[in-house]
Amino acid sequence: MRTRNFALIAAALLLVSGCGHTEKKQARTAGHRLAAGTKAGAKAGARARTAPAPPQRPPAQRRIDCDRLKCVALTFDDGPGPYTNGLLDVLKKDGVRATFFVLGQNARSFPAMVRREVMEGHEVGDHSWDHPQLTGLSAAAVKSQIQRTQDAITRASGGVKPTIMRPPYGATNRRVGQTIGMPLILWSVDTEDWRYLNTARDTRVGIKEPKPGGVILFHDIHKPSVKAIPAVIEGLKKRGFTFVTVSELFEGRQLKPGQTYSERMAPKPASPAPVTASPPPSGSPAGPAPSPSKSRPQQAEGH
Ligand code: NI
Repeated sequence: MRTRNFALIAAALLLVSGCGHTEKKQARTAGHRLAAGTKAGAKAGARARTAPAPPQRPPAQRRIDCDRLKCVALTFDDGPGPYTNGLLDVLKKDGVRATFFVLGQNARSFPAMVRREVMEGHEVGDHSWDHPQLTGLSAAAVKSQIQRTQDAITRASGGVKPTIMRPPYGATNRRVGQTIGMPLILWSVDTEDWRYLNTARDTRVGIKEPKPGGVILFHDIHKPSVKAIPAVIEGLKKRGFTFVTVSELFEGRQLKPGQTYSERMAPKPASPAPVTASPPPSGSPAGPAPSPSKSRPQQAEGH
């Protein structure tokens, strides 16, 4: 009964608040749900009795040429939470790899989910410890937000340390970027799933808006978002997209620490090939220099 009350209270809180205000409640709710043994938990238990032992190391990053293929990266923020395992089941069934920008406090609460994400080939990025607006913090506080999260994820995953970061609300500046010291991954499609909490809308936007090389933002702490994912995957597959992690998406592009990226940069245009091309001078870049996404807002609500 106590568990049910907690769940109802948390559900009500979810309805009235966007991301960034619910993590603590989410974490508590998830703990109670898992302890209570939900239907999903019982199913997972039944599977565990017959399934082979889980892998001890993550699968290798794939080599996917996103200059030739229509690539897209699904990203999920603010978890892990009560719906993350269900989402991982869907991704596994559909053979899709995604990227999770997790909060350190949730990685500490649900280390097994972080481990599962990593072992099933997904990428895990740093999304700060408890979702503050980093531009309002001292450099020392930013450093602590990042370091504690890196430590929690590394511990949970069995040694896999994130190499990418997504600042909460997309809020960053030069000082914050330098302090974080990792490439900052934003998004090209903001589904605003946290605002509408509407599976039909999430599905429509998730299928329609992505362009090749895009990064789609969802939140795995919201049930309507997770419910939309099977249809989003199906729709994007029909549009000819290949699903990749963020690092796979940017393969061949040099990402710089502290710079923001919201989609894969276009390849260098082919030069009118002379018959006897001389090799490029040593030290010249392989592609166009990555540029920070100037058109993106540096701060947005609810991410
Ligand atoms: Ni967020």
